[in-house]
Amino acid sequence: MGQRHCWVMLLFLTLFFWCVMVTREEMPRAEADQGLCLGDFDYGNVLGKAILFFEGQRSGKLPRGQRVKWRGDSALLDGRPENVNLVGGYYDAGDNVKFGWPMAFAVTLLSWTATENRREISATNQLRYLRSAIKWGTDFLLQAHTSPTTLYTQVGDGNLDHQCWERPEDMDTARTLYKITSSSPGTEAAAEAAAALSAASIVFKSVNSNYSRLLLSKSKSLFELADKYRGSYQGSCPFYCSYSGYQDELLWASVWLYKASGDSNYLNYVLSNQGWSQAVSEFSWDNKFAGAQMLLAEEFHRGKSNLAKFNNDAISFVCALMPGSSSVQIKTTPGGLLYTRDSSNLQYAMSASMVLLIHSKTLSEAHVDGVQCGSAHFSASQIREFAKSQVDYILGKNPMNMSYMVGWGSRYPRRLHHRGASIPSIHVHPAKVGCNDGLATYYSSTDPNPNTHVGAIVGGPDSNDRFGDLRSDYSHSEPATYMNAAFVGAAAALVPRT
Ligand SMILES: *[C@@H]1O[C@H](CO)[C@@H](O)[C@H](O)[C@H]1NC(C)=O
Ligand SMILES: *[C@@H]1O[C@H](CO)[C@@H](O)[C@H](O)[C@H]1NC(C)=O
Repeated sequence: MGQRHCWVMLLFLTLFFWCVMVTREEMPRAEADQGLCLGDFDYGNVLGKAILFFEGQRSGKLPRGQRVKWRGDSALLDGRPENVNLVGGYYDAGDNVKFGWPMAFAVTLLSWTATENRREISATNQLRYLRSAIKWGTDFLLQAHTSPTTLYTQVGDGNLDHQCWERPEDMDTARTLYKITSSSPGTEAAAEAAAALSAASIVFKSVNSNYSRLLLSKSKSLFELADKYRGSYQGSCPFYCSYSGYQDELLWASVWLYKASGDSNYLNYVLSNQGWSQAVSEFSWDNKFAGAQMLLAEEFHRGKSNLAKFNNDAISFVCALMPGSSSVQIKTTPGGLLYTRDSSNLQYAMSASMVLLIHSKTLSEAHVDGVQCGSAHFSASQIREFAKSQVDYILGKNPMNMSYMVGWGSRYPRRLHHRGASIPSIHVHPAKVGCNDGLATYYSSTDPNPNTHVGAIVGGPDSNDRFGDLRSDYSHSEPATYMNAAFVGAAAALVPRT
């Protein structure tokens, strides 16, 4: 190597390590990672914060190891009117309702991540926190499945809850119970709970085999309830209405049951119902086709050639999202963010990124050249880079130069649309803050939230990459369990392998 090359190399290395240091320190200024430093974010640190978010969403009696200290015990009588124990689980978003259907989806995503990226997560010492985030959800789903033909699907009246601005610890709105049974079915909710329990059963197989077996047996029971008594779940509408029908959940749940149990009956179910699978451009709490397709594409590349239909649909999903694809369906903002719809858009950007990262890994492991979308070709690493750009956008590489994860960088949303975070902690302000007092004093205030809900991902910017940071603007300023769960999945896939 010539002397000049050496100097260039030295300069490059110095710059590189400087960049690493700056990024490691969570960037004193969000801009530090912009122009000069094109290095990566510290995804392990990011992942830890995104998992921590779930502790701030906990309902019920908080455990000894609770790290989010501004929260207290809440909703300790949930289920009492019908003599069932429905204490626990997660508050859905910035409100105090427990919606079982999207909660189960969040648990499925977290469990998928724990199985898909176990090594990376373990290397960052986050595996036990991720497992407890999963278990907080699965414990609740197990409690909610009170008989072979009963699943409680919601605790709390959405309308009454949304009319109030109260901390969960003070909440005094009706804790109305909603359930599905054989005579009033709700296939989407039961099948998603089945998917969650099967996915989690894989996570706990090596650490708690009893629990893992329990999860699998309850998953089978829920799948039977879902499949035998078919009917669309509209019990949580207008908050969560099923638009995509229940076929996606039935396929998704049976794939997870197959993966957890190895029972070929579940794979046969998938094959005999492959006509249900559709080419889609969205992966969400409502529409799970893409998730099932990605899992089945992996099986296809491992030699199950009769799953070609699902692999083709998985390719369609990739082609609907990759910029420059001839069949692209989802546009990006001028700043490069996938933009599915205005309300809580980051959930779609992150769930898409999560499955694109998984698919990219599937392609690499199968030594497949990439994906052909009409005349455009995308290699596995191009797919990965695009998904990574979405995560990086959230962390600060965006036209606002801000992070959309609370507590990350120096500029992040300060007025999260979140009841608990926007009212002083019960430990600081023990006097009750009632429904209207909360609205007048805290919801309407322009002050930053007193509690930093570290790791919360907000709905995100508008179609022009702008973000107003207004507490009242729930479409852009509210977090949600399934949005954070998808972000956990995408961030975990970017943690370097050690
Ligand atoms: C697992 O279950 C078996 C049988 O129900 C029980 O005897 C055993 O103590 C359990 N083990 C643990 C670690 O809970
Ligand atoms: C973001 O940073 C870039 C580069 O430093 C700068 O040109 C731009 O004006 C900044 N935008 C905002 C909204 O601060």
